[in-house]
Amino acid sequence: MVAGRDFLGKYQLTRLIRAGHTCQVWESRDLDQRRVCLKVLQPEMRTNKEEIRYMRHEYQVGHPLQHPNVIEIYELATDRDGVPFLVMEFHTGKNIKLLLREGMERIGYLIPTLIRTAAKGLAYFHDQGWVHRDIKPDNYLVGDEGDAKLIDFALAQKQAGGVARLLGRKGKVQGTRSYMAPEQIKGLPPDRRADIYSFGCMMFEILAGKTPFTAASPSELLTKHLRQAAPPVAAVNKNVTSECNALILKMMSKDPKDRPQSMHDVVRSLDAMRIFRSIPKRPDEADAPSIRRR
Ligand SMILES: Nc1ncnc2c1ncn2[C@@H]1O[C@H](COP(=O)(O)OP(=O)(O)OP(=O)(O)O)[C@@H](O)[C@H]1O
Ligand SMILES: [Mg+2]
Repeated sequence: MVAGRDFLGKYQLTRLIRAGHTCQVWESRDLDQRRVCLKVLQPEMRTNKEEIRYMRHEYQVGHPLQHPNVIEIYELATDRDGVPFLVMEFHTGKNIKLLLREGMERIGYLIPTLIRTAAKGLAYFHDQGWVHRDIKPDNYLVGDEGDAKLIDFALAQKQAGGVARLLGRKGKVQGTRSYMAPEQIKGLPPDRRADIYSFGCMMFEILAGKTPFTAASPSELLTKHLRQAAPPVAAVNKNVTSECNALILKMMSKDPKDRPQSMHDVVRSLDAMRIFRSIPKRPDEADAPSIRRR
């Protein structure tokens, strides 16, 4: 598909934002010239029934959601061949992973807002009965003032009640290894406290500039999440308060019972504390971060 020339349904593709393993993400315009974002399957995935199911699922999860810190999904449209694609609110910002590359000096002043709004988006998502199961910096987009929006609902599952429902890709570990809770690694029923663990890993990365665990192989990484005590973020970033350090360690407890039990508890704790000992300043115009993708 070619930017500026091709249409998908009534949408004109204007710019390829990202080409991943399964999907392409395009900036596009509808017939009223409104900017939207399309998530489209990669050509080789267009006949893959499982991937098509995931796309429908993402629509079903995301479409009813309405929250300032969660991306809006407008429509599940189909192309000429009947292959579905997602139409979403277009966001001008980068994801947190890309933003972190700008360095603490430049983005530090945005971090308190970033963490608080990201936590609020996830609290709302949980309130709607969902467990996200892939909380990580790539799955939040960041606005000009540091406000975050949760994206990518493909792996979401209903919070397990009495009888667990497991819809997963059989035999595969779902989620992203650098952020995965021990019980998620073990394949236990979906539980929002696994997202709280992943959110703790993400907070660690935002404040430390690196993930809490690293390893030479994927299996070693999973073993560390299962067995090795989480490192204190304050040992890497001396400007993190002891309250915030303790909150992250609690969120990353191996046993879900030892974690904060809901994201609302996390939001309350964050609202009652300072994240940094000395508040990072907004850099001068010339050194300011480029939050917008372009
Ligand atoms: N609504 C949007 N507006 C602008 N950019 C977006 C939007 N949604 C996603 N993106 C960009 O595309 C990237 C990938 O999106 P997403 O996480 O939904 O796909 P994915 O399922 O992870 O794709 P893959 O499996 O191919 O990696 C995001 O990190 C972000 O940079
Ligand atoms: Mg993603």
